[in-house]
Amino acid sequence: MIPQMSRITRVLFENRSVATFELDACVDAEPGQFLMVWLPGEGEKPISIMDPDPLTITVARVGPFSTALHQRQVGDAVGWRGPFGRPFTVDGRHLLLVAGGYGAAPLHFLARRACDAGISTTLALGARTGDDLILVDRFRAIGCTTVLATDRGDVGYQGFVTDAILPDLAQFDRVAACGPEAMLYAVARMCWDAGVPAEVSLERYMKCGFGICGQCAMGDKLVCKDGPVFDIEELRHNRDFARFTRTATGRRVSL
Ligand SMILES: Cc1cc2nc3c(=O)[nH]c(=O)nc-3n(C[C@H](O)[C@H](O)[C@H](O)COP(=O)(O)OP(=O)(O)OC[C@H]3O[C@@H](n4cnc5c(N)ncnc54)[C@H](O)[C@@H]3O)c2cc1C
Ligand code: FES
Repeated sequence: MIPQMSRITRVLFENRSVATFELDACVDAEPGQFLMVWLPGEGEKPISIMDPDPLTITVARVGPFSTALHQRQVGDAVGWRGPFGRPFTVDGRHLLLVAGGYGAAPLHFLARRACDAGISTTLALGARTGDDLILVDRFRAIGCTTVLATDRGDVGYQGFVTDAILPDLAQFDRVAACGPEAMLYAVARMCWDAGVPAEVSLERYMKCGFGICGQCAMGDKLVCKDGPVFDIEELRHNRDFARFTRTATGRRVSL
């Protein structure tokens, strides 16, 4: 599992803190899978695949690694290994995607596959403000209907994206979600109640990315290998879902 080195061919700033990087590579991957992205001297972090061809990632600047990546320019080298993890199911006739923040990135890959398969696909995207809503034009360009929600109400529905879509949930025969875990728990509860099949993509601190180190344990699951995409039925009795996570040293702490 030695990282493959690629060059950045394009950088697009989605807003003040999120950037999309295209690399001179393509990867044989399924929607929802992730890479361990390596910056020599900075470390290695899990990042979802936004598009496999050309290999594209969308990264929020939140700390040292992501800040270092945002400072990289066209022509600079980025390492990666993968793809890792269990992907989303591409199935159904009316698919609802629910995204918060950079959770839109893996769902963009899923939306592309679903639209190519003739599945009617709706994206419900939530963020704090209109400026935080990312990739909206890309989703529309591949044929998705979009429902937008912001806490501030400057764009779309004012409030949680889960509240925006709840009245229409029965129109869909499958749901896929990625974003903050509180949002994923709200999606799971809605879908448990309505009996709609759903998958959610979870995050835990990762080191190896393929089931060796045990760092990403969540109850009896390893998020890097058994997930990151889980059927909500697998999470119904998981004591950590939306309650506990693990720090970089493996300590179990409240979310
Ligand atoms: C399966 C998976 C897919 C992801 N996909 C994306 C993506 O497409 N775009 C994106 O912007 N971010 C994604 N992330 C999150 C990304 O890995 C972290 O934002 C990044 O590691 C932050 O590192 P940092 O040094 O910039 O910030 P730090 O200050 O080190 O951390 C900021 C936050 O990131 C988390 N984090 C830091 N290191 C890791 C790690 N090794 N594993 C998991 N979480 C970590 C911390 O717990 C903290 O919540 C994904 C995470 C996982 C687990
Ligand atoms: S990150 Fe090592 S087991 Fe999951």
